[in-house]
Amino acid sequence: MKNRTRKENRSRRDFIKTTTAAAVGGTLASRLDVIPGAYAAGSDEIRIGLIGCGGRGTGAVANALESAPGVRVVAMGDVFKDRLDESRKNLTEKHAEEIAIPEERCFAGFDAFEKVIASDANYIILATPPAFRPLHLKAAVAAGMNIFTEKPVAVDAAGIRAVLEVYEEAKKKNLHIVAGTQRRHQTGYLETMKRVHDGAIGRIVAARCYWNQGGLWKKDRQPEWSDLEWQMRNWLYFTWLSGDHIVEQHVHNIDVVNWAMGAHPVRATGMGGRQARVQPEYGHIFDHFAIDYEYENGVHLMSMCRQIPGAANNVSESLTGTKGHCQVNRYTIEGDKAWRFRDEDNSPYVQEHTDLIASIRAGKPINELKNVAESTMTAIMGRMSAYTGKMVSWDQALNSKEDLVPAKLEWGPMPVPAVAVPGQTELI
Ligand SMILES: NC(=O)c1ccc[n+]([C@@H]2O[C@H](COP(=O)([O-])OP(=O)(O)OC[C@H]3O[C@@H](n4cnc5c(N)ncnc54)[C@H](O)[C@@H]3O)[C@@H](O)[C@H]2O)c1
Repeated sequence: MKNRTRKENRSRRDFIKTTTAAAVGGTLASRLDVIPGAYAAGSDEIRIGLIGCGGRGTGAVANALESAPGVRVVAMGDVFKDRLDESRKNLTEKHAEEIAIPEERCFAGFDAFEKVIASDANYIILATPPAFRPLHLKAAVAAGMNIFTEKPVAVDAAGIRAVLEVYEEAKKKNLHIVAGTQRRHQTGYLETMKRVHDGAIGRIVAARCYWNQGGLWKKDRQPEWSDLEWQMRNWLYFTWLSGDHIVEQHVHNIDVVNWAMGAHPVRATGMGGRQARVQPEYGHIFDHFAIDYEYENGVHLMSMCRQIPGAANNVSESLTGTKGHCQVNRYTIEGDKAWRFRDEDNSPYVQEHTDLIASIRAGKPINELKNVAESTMTAIMGRMSAYTGKMVSWDQALNSKEDLVPAKLEWGPMPVPAVAVPGQTELI
């Protein structure tokens, strides 16, 4: 006992907390006796297989390792060997004990995901660009894996329909799936939303959400890169890879409003364009969107997102009710039931793994795939409306024939689609 490191002691404290929260019936007493090392080869061991070893995938592994004891990394895969090597090096330097992955468990190429899933991993982290999520989710669920999937979970309606089928399949198999819409695992958001759902602001009559910020990274094209490699290394700027920034980034804020409403909107009327980020290195996506969403009960959500350097920043969500107002991201409620969150907030990036692992160990499946699929679809519906200049209903959007991701990808030429023009771009 006294030889334990500070990290192990912290892990044990976290484990007891986690187990206490998740334990059901007789499992609690037995689990409290388990020290972290006892997981080394135990049936409760979490063995991570990472697919997509970029910034978020590498971060998610570190978060999972911090989230609970008995977690190891057993396999990694990325389409690009250099990204894989960089991630492996970073993780190995920081987490030498939990990460010692031999070369033969590191996979590069388009089929890397199959090899990671076929390893002895039992906890798959999906963190590639969203284009590949439906394919990877399908394969992971078919293999009976528990999954942490980054958002968004698709870029088009064809992908969402596939993910909704995967959700049903995962439910049948009692699999555990958490999505990277991490606000749903953040203490301040949870406490605020609990009050909204308990009626602290009365009935919600209007909502607003924003992700307005400056620019994001881009990678200069190298002479040896084919069109496809250039696009994949700059995936943010191509709708077939990212869904455009309304889907890739603003999905977080849209998800918060869907969470508050307990529903998704039924139609969208939007506009947007490309005004500041017009050079070819930024692919063909828009740099701003403004969408008026309408829910079935008539409530409107005003949603805006912008990636324009120098313009004002605003990343937030707010709700107006019959009895008050809630600034969700600030955790405040105004009105008769005025309230402000004053406790310590948590790291939602760690908590999402704590919650997933607790659900796995308690045998009580958590499955967030439908929620994140609906929020992703909401963002896609907004994009469709802005690209075409038409009002788009949920049914039109979900049944759209738009299928942006090529069935087979090969390194080589790949034309960049034209920038969408409202009034000319067709709704398909
Ligand atoms: N929840 C959050 O707050 C949050 C934050 C950042 C990113 N994300 C999401 O995480 C995902 C990844 O974003 P990122 O910032 O890490 O991007 P990134 O470019 O740093 O990483 C993506 C990685 O996936 C690899 N990849 C691409 N296609 C692949 C394929 N078919 N198979 C295997 N690997 C493939 C790339 O080579 C790259 O290493 C995105 O969906 C993004 O929206 C979520």
